[in-house]
Amino acid sequence: MFKILLVHGPNLNLLGWREPAVYGKMSFDEINARMIKVAAENDAELRVFQSNSEGALVDAIQEARHWADGIVINPGAYSHYSIALRDAISAVKLPTVEVHLSNIHAREEFRHRTVLTPVCVGMLCGFGWRSYLHGLHALIAILQDRAQAETPPAG
Ligand code: DQA
Repeated sequence: MFKILLVHGPNLNLLGWREPAVYGKMSFDEINARMIKVAAENDAELRVFQSNSEGALVDAIQEARHWADGIVINPGAYSHYSIALRDAISAVKLPTVEVHLSNIHAREEFRHRTVLTPVCVGMLCGFGWRSYLHGLHALIAILQDRAQAETPPAG
């Protein structure tokens, strides 16, 4: 069973209520419930962590190296400038998928660049809450591929 950490950065606890025209109407709790369910259907355990504080997010990523196989992260606004989060992801070496609900490339210029994508396996944006879902499926597929590559041939 794969163990996955889902990380939400600042202001994402307000999902459902915050700028629904940009981020959708699905609540934070509902997104997490769906993610946990889909993970379980795919034989994975998903733990959820949200913080508005950069240091707490760094701590959660560091802690994940003791138990998780991979990370799905929506770093919120920290995506655009947090070298501390980038360094944490680099340090733990867990496969990490970055997700954003909105299409950050179709928004203000300061959102176009994320400093985290270079240390992530990939980045998904623009699919609303389903960015999380696609990110989870992508991560599970990566973990399955890795597990298969590590399995010695039978006989
Ligand atoms: C976001 C995009 C960021 O630019 C913004 O600061 C957020 C949410 C998204 O999911 O679309 O907080 O990460």
